[in-house]
Amino acid sequence: MKNVVITLGTAITLATLVGLTVVYAGLFDVSTSWKDPALVRWVLATTRENAVKSRAALIKVPPMEGAQQVEEGFRSFREMCASCHTPPGASASPTAQGLNPEPPDLAKRAEQMSAAELFWVIKNGIRMTGMPAWGPTHKDPELWNIVAFVKALPNMSSDDYQALDQETPEGHGHSGGGHNDEGKSGHGDDSHHDEVDGLGDVHTH
Ligand code: HEC
Repeated sequence: MKNVVITLGTAITLATLVGLTVVYAGLFDVSTSWKDPALVRWVLATTRENAVKSRAALIKVPPMEGAQQVEEGFRSFREMCASCHTPPGASASPTAQGLNPEPPDLAKRAEQMSAAELFWVIKNGIRMTGMPAWGPTHKDPELWNIVAFVKALPNMSSDDYQALDQETPEGHGHSGGGHNDEGKSGHGDDSHHDEVDGLGDVHTH
């Protein structure tokens, strides 16, 4: 028993020393230039999928509102997402090409993920990947508009997307959408959001 304790203690001390050496000597390459090994990719993807699934299970999906909502969502998508998630018929931007992990093709993910799962990811982001959380700066109704648009993506050809892009004037979805003042957001901090909304067309994220 005593030997087991000594062996375990030594192993833990050694592992801690190796860990601290890596951290303090700067041995880990934090650049985006190398791909995670397959096992690490599997662990990360499986962790993400299950974390999102279990949290999204608690979300109540409001009724989707049709074409008008998809168009509102498109405006936000073009401004907030398209630079990373390459739209149909476009080529990957320098930002998208420089990210690791790569931003996935949302038309494909939209077929595999539920509306609640998409909403959770858009609202909360995915840490250490480049996928931002939009919840701190946008109200729930606007995020649901984006979900509606992403859900429409699998049925959108490059031509459909380009036509929508040309038909829709520049401008942020939430400035004229009228969806955001209905108090559905569920969190009380509305003054903060109104301040953000008040920027209207000016902000360029
Ligand atoms: C700065 C780049 C960037 C922006 C902007 C961005 N994303 Fe992402 N997004 C990513 C990356 C990188 C991932 C991959 C994360 C991973 O592999 O775990 C991702 C993942 C996702 C996923 C997939 C999650 C999964 O489980 O497969 C969804 C859905 C998503 N983003 C939606 C959006 C939407 C909608 C917007 C705009 C409101 C947006 N993203 C804006 C970089 C971005």
